[in-house]
Amino acid sequence: MKKVKDYYYKKAKEENYSARSVYKLKEINSKKHFLKTNQKVLELGAAPGSWSEYASKVVGEKGLILGIDLKERPKQISKNAPFIQGDVFEIELSTYRKFAKTYSGVISDMAPNTTGHKNTDHLKSVGLCEKSLYLSLQLVKKGGYLLVKIFQGGEFQDFMLKMKKHYNNVSILKPNSSRKESREIFILGLNKKEEPNDNPDW
Ligand SMILES: C[S@@+](CC[C@H](N)C(=O)[O-])C[C@H]1O[C@@H](n2cnc3c(N)ncnc32)[C@H](O)[C@@H]1O
Repeated sequence: MKKVKDYYYKKAKEENYSARSVYKLKEINSKKHFLKTNQKVLELGAAPGSWSEYASKVVGEKGLILGIDLKERPKQISKNAPFIQGDVFEIELSTYRKFAKTYSGVISDMAPNTTGHKNTDHLKSVGLCEKSLYLSLQLVKKGGYLLVKIFQGGEFQDFMLKMKKHYNNVSILKPNSSRKESREIFILGLNKKEEPNDNPDW
């Protein structure tokens, strides 16, 4: 990840957030208002932890932000923001259910280790998005949401169709805090069409 000490990097330091990524979630949420008090949310790609720092405050004491990441999280955030270190492709469904039977939403800032080869990185990113969508179909309540980060490329439209199959309102967002030169973009699906299902119709 490029570490240019830009405006958002400095702002994150000043405001005590673990990463500048927090401003992407803040911007998207201030526009779309999906994160709310008391919600239970599954967060994928949750290290070092800036999204959890912000989201755990929004959902409050009775809410939950369950964070998952391959990497260790350097510090504990709060009681309502537990963390599991692991690979999202390997964690069992039952593990997520130990924290909550169903979730209000899934938010993912997961990014693959980039190779520099645009199409390879795009395809790896789509794999992470598909896993996030699949998990949301298994765990998120009808009416809930899914936010994913995707590196743009040839499979983008195909993934959008999959989102539209399962979510009523799907939008594409590029927050100001996301670097212009970055191919990352966010897709938000609101108002999930179906109840959770262990073997969803893909
Ligand atoms: C941009 S960072 C997330 C930053 C986070 N939103 C924050 O605010 O601190 C992307 C993360 O996705 C994680 N990741 C990538 N592939 C993953 C996988 N298969 N399972 C779990 N985490 C994964 C990476 O380890 C990395 O920490």
